[in-house]
Amino acid sequence: MGDVIVGIESTAHTFSFGSVTHDGAPSNSTSALYRPETGGIHPREAADHHSQHAHDLLQKFLQDNQISNDDITAIAFSQGPGLGPCLRIGATVARTLSEQLEIPLVGVNHCVAHIEIGRNQTGCDDPVLLYVSGGNTQVIARAGDRYKVIGETLDIGIGNMLDKFARNQGIAFPGGPKIEKLASEWHALNPDADVSDCPLPYSVQGMDLNFSGLLNAAQLRINEGKELGQVCWSLQEHAFTACVEVAERALAHTGKTELLLGGGVACNERIREMSRLMCEQRSAEATWPEKRFCVDNGTMIAELGRRMLEVSSPILYHESDINPSLRTDHTIVEWD
Ligand code: ATP
Ligand code: FE2
Repeated sequence: MGDVIVGIESTAHTFSFGSVTHDGAPSNSTSALYRPETGGIHPREAADHHSQHAHDLLQKFLQDNQISNDDITAIAFSQGPGLGPCLRIGATVARTLSEQLEIPLVGVNHCVAHIEIGRNQTGCDDPVLLYVSGGNTQVIARAGDRYKVIGETLDIGIGNMLDKFARNQGIAFPGGPKIEKLASEWHALNPDADVSDCPLPYSVQGMDLNFSGLLNAAQLRINEGKELGQVCWSLQEHAFTACVEVAERALAHTGKTELLLGGGVACNERIREMSRLMCEQRSAEATWPEKRFCVDNGTMIAELGRRMLEVSSPILYHESDINPSLRTDHTIVEWD
């Protein structure tokens, strides 16, 4: 396949390998998803899952993409943010490969990787990013040498909120896609519905968001006997409108004209549609990568590793510690 940079993702549920060539052409990622039998994610169990799958997954990734060890010129891994035990597995695999193959190692910021794979895939240049995933909900824009967080959730991530609501209804992880299906089926049968028929709190506070009140209120509507499909629909309408409102104000404040969606919740057709409509009204453009690049994937880690290696040196072994609480704006952005 020629020279490639390999990326390893292991911040939470997903363990994934992916790669990009030196001019940024991405491979498919090869991924394994940890699904808790009951309850939410258990960090130690997720880490066990990742370490059990690491060897076979790597072999499959190399085989599927016809990559030999000689083709790999650098190895990138998620240094944070994420769950410590999970991050440690990815970092250990990365260090081992780096030593064995005698190739440079680069630690990347997972949140920034969502931005860079979006830029790579959509061709947008200087976007406001609406980053909506399980653990994170942030509105981000580049200012000087940082990606600055302009607004974010003050409590839980939007995806965790959707997953938790789903779990309370007996729907397995990940709940977001099932909620989307239930909501759109219900709405197709009730096209004239109004959100005031299933009222929920609106979760914008200045440029920030919160979702736990929405989660509790949605459960209350279920307890009161509302149909699950209707509550799913209203929940999506409220949560997505709040995100898109903050994104719109970020566009207005920064003067930027591109909105990029990223993170697993960006797979949702309704948040895409709302973003597109909002952007149309202000002569901006809404864009998003394919679903396989919205959810966590190794390819996005490889892509950010590639960009970083264009402008800076690889890290040394003693600099390769994970950082579970790494912030989006901690990483200095030196690439274009
Ligand atoms: P991060 O570490 O960036 O917070 P993550 O571990 O949450 O990422 P992602 O793969 O980015 O992982 O996102 C997973 C989330 O996306 C889950 O909460 C899942 O329910 C949600 N999701 C996936 N598809 C959809 C969809 N179609 N509609 C709504 N939510 C979705
Ligand atoms: Fe993510």
